[in-house]
Amino acid sequence: MQTLIIVTHPDIDSSLVNKRWIEALRKFPDQYVVHQLHQTYPDGKIDVKAEQKLMEKYDKIVFQFPYYWFNSPWLLKKWFDEVLTHGWAYGSKSGYPLSGKKIALAISLGVGEDELRPSGIYKYPLKELTRPFELSLEYVKADYRPFFAYYGIEYHSTPAYIEKSVPLYLEFLKAL
Ligand SMILES: Cc1cc2nc3c(=O)[nH]c(=O)nc-3n(C[C@H](O)[C@H](O)[C@H](O)COP(=O)(O)O)c2cc1C
Repeated sequence: MQTLIIVTHPDIDSSLVNKRWIEALRKFPDQYVVHQLHQTYPDGKIDVKAEQKLMEKYDKIVFQFPYYWFNSPWLLKKWFDEVLTHGWAYGSKSGYPLSGKKIALAISLGVGEDELRPSGIYKYPLKELTRPFELSLEYVKADYRPFFAYYGIEYHSTPAYIEKSVPLYLEFLKAL
């Protein structure tokens, strides 16, 4: 069974990490299906029914994105608001189609992990900062799994540092 990777990156051409991850995933088309929101919906108008159908097809789903302003890029928030509808994703008339599906986040970050902790400048660990995803996905009864995070890209943007993330990401996906 393939894993669906929903990528949200508003400027993939300038990306270092997310672009590299997509390239790595495309080597295993039997295992990973890459779905890029900004490429599919350049005008930001999401085909809700198509997205819901796509979600129904896969038991493992990963939301991959660069961390922007302590959150995801805007199109992913729009996706959550529009795709996870009452009556489909949840509610008395919903069959809870996402129930039991393994869903995780894969996030690239500019800052270091040591900065995201009580003694660091950003105070809160990523586990706390991603609670809205956790709660939303649990609300629709998905099996929310621990995220994959690759930190410190602002400080180490060398090809070697980017490359180091690839096997880590692939291992994470394998174990999902
Ligand atoms: C608009 C914007 C907001 C950002 N906000 C954050 C942030 O809040 N925390 C952080 O660690 N990095 C932040 N960054 C850095 C990006 O997360 C980082 O450049 C990205 O993960 C690298 O991935 P890429 O090479 O695929 O673009 C931000 C970058 C941009 C452009």
